[in-house]
Amino acid sequence: MSTTLARSTPLVTDLHEARSRTDFLFNLLTPSAWYERPIGERHRMVFYLGHLEAFDWNMVARRALGKPSFHPEFDRLFEFGIDPAEGNLPADTPADWPPLDEVHAYNARVRAELDSMIVQANGQIVRVAIEHRWMHAETLAYLLHNMPRELKRPPATRSAADFHSTPVHPTMIRIPAGEVTLGQSPAEFGWDNEFDEHRVHVPPFSIARYKVSNGEYLRFVESGAKPPFFWSQQNGAWFYRGMFDLLPLPLDWPVYVTHEEAEAYASWAGAVLPTEEQFHRAAYGAPDGCESSYPWGEEPPSVARGNFDFAHWDPQPVTAHPAGDSAWGVSQLVGNGWEWTSTPFRPFPGFRQFDFYPRYSAAFFDDDHFVMKGGSPQTARSLLRRSFRNWFRHRYPYVYGTFRLVAHG
Ligand SMILES: [Fe+2]
Repeated sequence: MSTTLARSTPLVTDLHEARSRTDFLFNLLTPSAWYERPIGERHRMVFYLGHLEAFDWNMVARRALGKPSFHPEFDRLFEFGIDPAEGNLPADTPADWPPLDEVHAYNARVRAELDSMIVQANGQIVRVAIEHRWMHAETLAYLLHNMPRELKRPPATRSAADFHSTPVHPTMIRIPAGEVTLGQSPAEFGWDNEFDEHRVHVPPFSIARYKVSNGEYLRFVESGAKPPFFWSQQNGAWFYRGMFDLLPLPLDWPVYVTHEEAEAYASWAGAVLPTEEQFHRAAYGAPDGCESSYPWGEEPPSVARGNFDFAHWDPQPVTAHPAGDSAWGVSQLVGNGWEWTSTPFRPFPGFRQFDFYPRYSAAFFDDDHFVMKGGSPQTARSLLRRSFRNWFRHRYPYVYGTFRLVAHG
């Protein structure tokens, strides 16, 4: 990767595109929403407004380019997010946070100063800033999802909920033994947890063609399981709590669940969750022994291939986007919801933390976080690369987490 950026390089364009997306999401908040905390385990919304700019400033201007701080208090206050263990929720109050106009003024100065110096910055650091912002675009989306309806404004135009699907015929697909490549090439950008690239042998297994649907999960709930966080019940009828609307439960949409719920359903169904390696084999392997960059091949992500890159606020039927199927005919491995794996989030062999962001991954190697693969409707296309790993706690209910079954070995 080059060490400096030419003006108007793709990276600068990418940064501006990512800023547009997060600005768009913040603009969906009503004025009274900024000091709310829609998710108990996360900060108040005003934190994220300051955090995106503070992160860029701390990484690119201060650390990479050695520029002096113009607002050390905000640099520290907005530096890092939180992921508390159960029973250890934050206890700050709205009064602990600065007024909104001060945060906006800080942000405006950060952007102006950064834009004047970014051409001097190391490309890897700028990519870290861009991908950090894209990840927060998804975090902002699910925070917004949990905001009461009166505290958010639906955008002027949005796609209608997709209730139309071909009938779902659950099918298991046999995948023969083969090798997969985990991790990222040293010549390409990746986060610390994507290295070192390495090969793993995967024994034969059978995997579901489709993600588990709301309709299938409903039978589990009717047998006594707790309903998922994204469902609500009124007068005996089930509903899906969408981003902006309460919808009669769409039975052929994938169910959003925690890792704990995905494991419990799999056990109830006499199956297991795929490992990270099995996911790779099903998504990127092929009968001819080759591996592809995406389940559908080498073409970059597009709307025909899946529900990602902010195409929709909510899921689509599990049978949507057959043009995104893998070489084995497995559907929706990328998009329409991250997929839980049975693999605890641990370092790959040869892992080295970034010296400029040492706790990015290492803080989560606690075996309470599990690897998710694929991507959700709110995942930016640049994060859909094969080596990207997402991770959340076993019982974290807010994320767009889906799953599919693997037959017992
Ligand atoms: Fe962050």
